[in-house]
Amino acid sequence: MRQERLRRALSAAGLAAALALAGTAAHGAPAAAAAGVTLLPGAPPARVVAVIGAGTPQVAAKVDPAAAVFRADAGLAALGRRIFFDARLSEPRGQSCAGCHDPARAFSPTLSPAALQGPGVPQGSRPGRFSLRNAPSLLYVRYVPRRHFYQDDDALQPVPFGGLFADGRADTLAEQARGPLFDPNEMNNGSPAALLRKVNRTELAPALAARFGAAVRHDPERLVRALGEALQAYLQSDEMAPFSSRFDDYLRRGTPLSAQEQRGLALFKSPDKGNCMSCHTLSDTARRPERSLFTDFGYDAIAVPRNRALPANRDARHFDNGLCDSARRLRWPEPTQWCGYLRTPGLRNVAVRQRLMHNGVFGSLRDAVAFYNTRSTDPRRWYHGAPTFDDVPAAYRANINVNSMPMNRPPGMAPALSEQDVDDIVAFLRALTDAPYVGAMPPAAGTRAAAATVPAPAPARP
Ligand code: HEC
Ligand code: HEC
Repeated sequence: MRQERLRRALSAAGLAAALALAGTAAHGAPAAAAAGVTLLPGAPPARVVAVIGAGTPQVAAKVDPAAAVFRADAGLAALGRRIFFDARLSEPRGQSCAGCHDPARAFSPTLSPAALQGPGVPQGSRPGRFSLRNAPSLLYVRYVPRRHFYQDDDALQPVPFGGLFADGRADTLAEQARGPLFDPNEMNNGSPAALLRKVNRTELAPALAARFGAAVRHDPERLVRALGEALQAYLQSDEMAPFSSRFDDYLRRGTPLSAQEQRGLALFKSPDKGNCMSCHTLSDTARRPERSLFTDFGYDAIAVPRNRALPANRDARHFDNGLCDSARRLRWPEPTQWCGYLRTPGLRNVAVRQRLMHNGVFGSLRDAVAFYNTRSTDPRRWYHGAPTFDDVPAAYRANINVNSMPMNRPPGMAPALSEQDVDDIVAFLRALTDAPYVGAMPPAAGTRAAAATVPAPAPARP
């Protein structure tokens, strides 16, 4: 549970950081803090009790996604929608946001054959260039709060929450949009000025100027901000938070789940079994589905196996260290304590995903669930024959979560879940698929067969 996760954070480094944070707090929160900070649109401002590093607020109360109010600006959201689907905004043309966030697959990627058989992450506007990570679904992304720290009553130090991307490197959706637009592996625009010239040749230019002023036609920075705001409005619209899964019918109307799904739900919640709910938050006693987003927006280090097919991983010394890269940039104390940490993703529509985890290492939902169950009892099965985490540098292995059930058992011990339990959890997760995407799930019968597709131990590299 959370308590247990936080206790784990109190390594020597963690303690030093906690003291450093206490120091920050002692110097007093800045005057601006009195007014509080709005971490979610429409939510009441959160009281700031400290500022960590170069400006990340620590807030007094846990952020409640159900408190967010999204006052849709229909015109701006419609403009954002047009931008999202516009394949003329990449270099070369052909790659829109929707090209990687496919509306037919709950806005997660439908991979090209080259990507599916290759690295398992989406391809950018140039052939053979792939995103560095797997892309998440964008449904429900509006609930991801801005970056902040929060310290639970029983916690020994404040821990980070929120921010976009797996490593929280963007604070808001408007800021996030710069990422793909200028990423050479994604939409590959050379500069804001080059993008401006491109937009000015389309009918988007007058539409943006009507909304944001004529300056967007000659000031590249203003144009990029305008694109970001329009995209943000679209991603915050109700279209992107449908809450139309069978689980939502269960929450709101008591429509029963199947017996197997019900067993899966119980296992998902049980602290001695799946224990999934300790990070993938839900509340099946609340009718409001916003209380069941299947993430607490926190970060954790679960050490998924290395995806050897990622181009960057051809270099055996390369590691994706997740949150600590952002922590360094944001000047959080002791940034290396966050190496290996990634934001806990929500699990709604997870069953339509072709690839799972930040590095796309798993090709089936069943593998992803089975991984938790036997990661610690049978590590060689997952880590390409190695006895320990193969995608975390030795220096950071102590950061990995070895305390949360079911990942806390010694090698050789019986796993916490039976094969049937794993199937039941998978069945439950399938009930989180929103109505329009039910047909995009692989057949249910395939889940057990897919158990055979765990990553095969690859031959040792020279
Ligand atoms: C070439 C594929 C590709 C394209 C094109 C693309 N994205 Fe993404 N998107 C990704 C990947 C990969 C990630 C995850 C990256 C990471 O976590 O570091 C991502 C993450 C995101 C996130 C963060 C979600 C979260 O939960 O943190 C948002 C929002 C997003 N993309 C919106 C967009 C928008 C808007 C566009 C168009 C301007 C776009 N994307 C274009 C691949 C793409
Ligand atoms: C200690 C916190 C924690 C617990 C407990 C936990 N998860 Fe996760 N989960 C994460 C994090 C962090 C990730 C992202 C890891 C990554 O991308 O490398 C994740 C990713 C996933 C994914 C992949 C999602 C995607 O879109 O790719 C699935 C599926 C998943 N978890 C299911 C479960 C299930 C089922 C359980 C219980 C057996 C569980 N999780 C328990 C933190 C947790």
